[in-house]
Amino acid sequence: MTLAYAEKVFGKINVFDLINEFGSPLYVYDEETLRLRCRELRNLLKYPSFRVNYSAKANTNVELLKIIREEDLDVDAMSPGEMYLEIKAGFTSERIMFIGNNVSREEMQFAVDRGIYISVDSLSQLILLGEVNPGGDVCLRLNPGIGAGHHEKVITGGKKAKFGIAIGDLPQAQEIAARYQLTITGLNQHIGSLFLETEEYVAAAAQLLEIASALPSVKILDFGGGMGIPYRHGLEARLDLEKLGRELDEVIYNWVKNNRPITIRIEPGRYVVAECGAILGMVTAVKNNYNTDFIGCDIGFNTLIRPAMYDSYHEISVVPAQARAYAEYDGDVYLVGQICESGDILAHDRVLPLCREGDGLIVHDAGAYGFAMASTYNSRPLPAEVLIQCDGKVRLIRKAQTLEDLWPEK
Ligand SMILES: Cc1ncc(COP(=O)(O)O)c(C=O)c1O
Repeated sequence: MTLAYAEKVFGKINVFDLINEFGSPLYVYDEETLRLRCRELRNLLKYPSFRVNYSAKANTNVELLKIIREEDLDVDAMSPGEMYLEIKAGFTSERIMFIGNNVSREEMQFAVDRGIYISVDSLSQLILLGEVNPGGDVCLRLNPGIGAGHHEKVITGGKKAKFGIAIGDLPQAQEIAARYQLTITGLNQHIGSLFLETEEYVAAAAQLLEIASALPSVKILDFGGGMGIPYRHGLEARLDLEKLGRELDEVIYNWVKNNRPITIRIEPGRYVVAECGAILGMVTAVKNNYNTDFIGCDIGFNTLIRPAMYDSYHEISVVPAQARAYAEYDGDVYLVGQICESGDILAHDRVLPLCREGDGLIVHDAGAYGFAMASTYNSRPLPAEVLIQCDGKVRLIRKAQTLEDLWPEK
């Protein structure tokens, strides 16, 4: 067996051609996959008054945001920076929702000045919005007391999560809203990230609908994001979107029959962009220390923090420069980056082919929370991003930083 030296990224472009032209490490996106995922979500429900808000925190590259806009998704924002980038990508105010968490008066004012719909997630922030925009509309982010997710750091609902207004505080929220003539026109929630089964999400959606029964001013319900992707290829089943859509449609249509028409939203981030992104890198050093093999590469946690932060799994392909016989490590092997931290581990406890200096690497499914969470830690400039367009052409969509960018002169 030979190592698949000719493996192309997204099955389309030679890894070394891209690295030679744009440098390493490098974020690569596939437009076709991005459009496919957008369309799957747009078609999730049969219920007609339905919008998908892409949660842009997952990836705010403006060129990707433009594609997402063309695919008729709306957007969420978590900060003025995200609103700024979304506006740059051509989203009008009505298509943006600001889901704040502990935001300042100035940040709230930023959204109000642009006519952007705001969700607040505490009574304290509701008072602040009342002061900034008396007489306006507001969405309340509720914490339903239940959470879900792949890691404790991404469970955003439940009694220990910092997000949302507790259900028991709703009467007080109504009193505050009345005091400032605010109309509660929406309710939203987000219980956590990366679910691959439908039950908890649908149960939480049904609960939100139930709460809306008692609040006649509510016209919009946002069930949240969290739709997972199978990071472990061949081992995890895809989230069954057809089942999710069917089950959500059932609870929505039942509710509407007994109540009133309502607009439904969801706010997925990862599902939209994770699989359309990959990181290319290079093996820079190999060694065996005290019977443990270390493959050193140029993809540190400055480039992709998910494995170090959440112990997340990404499939990794090794692409040798020349064909050679396949052989694999038989003991402990760690794929590690260049950062001066012992936690800078990209992969461990898995079967990896024997690597050599100069081999190429593909880290798969890195489009969500990849570049968006990258940093210049250890003063390493941020990498470039390129897009493989539907017509097969490759376009640079963000230049790599240079050393000068590390200290911009005034
Ligand atoms: C409020 C909110 N909405 C949506 C999302 C998107 O989550 P995901 O990328 O898992 O779909 C997040 C992620 O943490 C979030 O905090």
